Amino acid sequence: MAGTGTLTPPLFVALATYASWMVLFLFGHLRDFYRKKIYGGRSAKKEKEGYAPIRQDYEDFYTRRMYYRIHDTFNRPICSAPDAWIDVMERTPVDGQKPLNLTGNTLRCLNLGSYNYLGFAAQDKYCTPRVEGVLDSLGWAGCSARADAGTTPRHEELERLIAEFLGKEAAVTCGMGFATNSAFIPLLAGRGTLVVSDALNHSSIVAGVRGSGAKVKVFDHNEPAHLEAVLRAAIAEGQPRTGRPWKKIVIIVEGIYSMEGEMARLKEIVAIKKKYKCYLYLDEAHSIGALGDGGRGVCEQLGVDTRDIDVMMGTFTKSFGSCGGYIAGDAGLIAYLRNHCPAHLYATAMSPPAVEMVISALHVIQGRDGTGRGKAKIKQLRDNSNYFRRRLLELGYDVLGDWDSPVMPVMLFNPAKLPAVSRYALSRGLAIVVVGFPATPLLTARMRVCISASHSKPDLDYALEVFEELSDRCHLKYSEEPNKQALRSSKASHLLTA
Ligand SMILES: Cc1ncc(COP(=O)(O)O)c(C=O)c1O
Ligand SMILES: *[C@@H]1O[C@H](CO)[C@@H](O)[C@H](O)[C@H]1NC(C)=O
Ligand SMILES: *[C@@H]1O[C@H](CO)[C@@H](O)[C@H](O)[C@H]1NC(C)=O
Repeated sequence: MAGTGTLTPPLFVALATYASWMVLFLFGHLRDFYRKKIYGGRSAKKEKEGYAPIRQDYEDFYTRRMYYRIHDTFNRPICSAPDAWIDVMERTPVDGQKPLNLTGNTLRCLNLGSYNYLGFAAQDKYCTPRVEGVLDSLGWAGCSARADAGTTPRHEELERLIAEFLGKEAAVTCGMGFATNSAFIPLLAGRGTLVVSDALNHSSIVAGVRGSGAKVKVFDHNEPAHLEAVLRAAIAEGQPRTGRPWKKIVIIVEGIYSMEGEMARLKEIVAIKKKYKCYLYLDEAHSIGALGDGGRGVCEQLGVDTRDIDVMMGTFTKSFGSCGGYIAGDAGLIAYLRNHCPAHLYATAMSPPAVEMVISALHVIQGRDGTGRGKAKIKQLRDNSNYFRRRLLELGYDVLGDWDSPVMPVMLFNPAKLPAVSRYALSRGLAIVVVGFPATPLLTARMRVCISASHSKPDLDYALEVFEELSDRCHLKYSEEPNKQALRSSKASHLLTA
């Protein structure tokens, strides 16, 4: 299953992008050079006398000379729930490195930036009253770790529901999605362990694996054949220096890659995992709730039995409109994690209203609220996503990711296009996230569209109108011809029904 776009820019675009970076780099250094001359050899940095610089040189240069030119496109404050439409707070224009100030105005924008896949991030007639009820009875915070006095019956109910939802024996939750990876992975890997990770891993996975002390090998993004090659070579070589066999091997992949919008090729990966007797750790931050007819994630979407996934990780911060994360697996594994994970033993438990939000969203998704709203939301998300992807492809955009995926990175390549796109979109009432170096490689800056079930057809059409203007203003029709061919030759059902 190949995605609908490509990370490789046309040659001319690649050259222009490198040229852009060169100009930024040269002028940045020239300005630094003259500044040094003017300030009599003292650097412009305001480090305390006698102290080593606290910021690393390169980051400092990048922040001053590149980031601050466009920092209005990042960290934009909002003052409403992240629903289909949000209120973005207007700020003063960029003025050197001065902080941006609020003007007091708010801009009502169509929201293409939040991970509000099923629309639970705003008021919900089933969930909100239940969350308020728990706020009244249990309060905002447990003020204690799960292992001490932070466990309520709602926490236990959530863990039971998640395990059941995924077809696993047990689950454990954690107050933060990022920490679910960074704090639990070190318990699953350690010295003598080999972690084989997809090249486009999430930063929380990197943090977890670094903290584990395991050895890491990387396989090409979503290439099972390369995964197998890496495994074979690693098993043949054994541990570094000693050549002893690995104590265990853990493969780590994600359900939907958040910067690429692609689903893991799970069927092939499971076959390899079984062949080489490795463990498989699946991060479903973006896929749980959003994929599969029942919202059960990438396994349901691709027809993989969840019993074949040893460790199922996910977050509540996207489709469930709450916060926190979970790990689901065999009862023995989860008991071990509970007894040993610092995030369970020493970090404050998930806030009870946040727990209730997930429980009630799960009820809606599974139809336990007595309506078909959950099923309808999941279908709406898929229809919206495929409609939007198809229309973007027709406009000639280079759109990464798979059909059915609500994450749609749209390639910009050139760093100068980040602010151009972001500012113009905002002026037209479209809130959209743009991402560039260092979050992506130098050449592959992109914007990221996240579709929600709460977007209506007119919402999507309005966004597409602005995208049409954008593609002309910013020259973004990178793959007009390939898209036309792909759309013509494709007889896939999503094109006919969406
Ligand atoms: C793949 C992946 N794992 C983990 C996380 C961290 O989750 P959270 O944002 O809930 O802390 C994210 C967040 O975006 C993610 O994309
Ligand atoms: C924002 O306000 C602060 C404090 O009043 C001021 O120092 C700063 O220059 C202002 N920033 C801009 C961009 O005007
Ligand atoms: C994550 O991916 C990067 C880039 O492919 C790689 O250098 C790194 O070793 C990987 N780390 C982990 C822990 O997966």
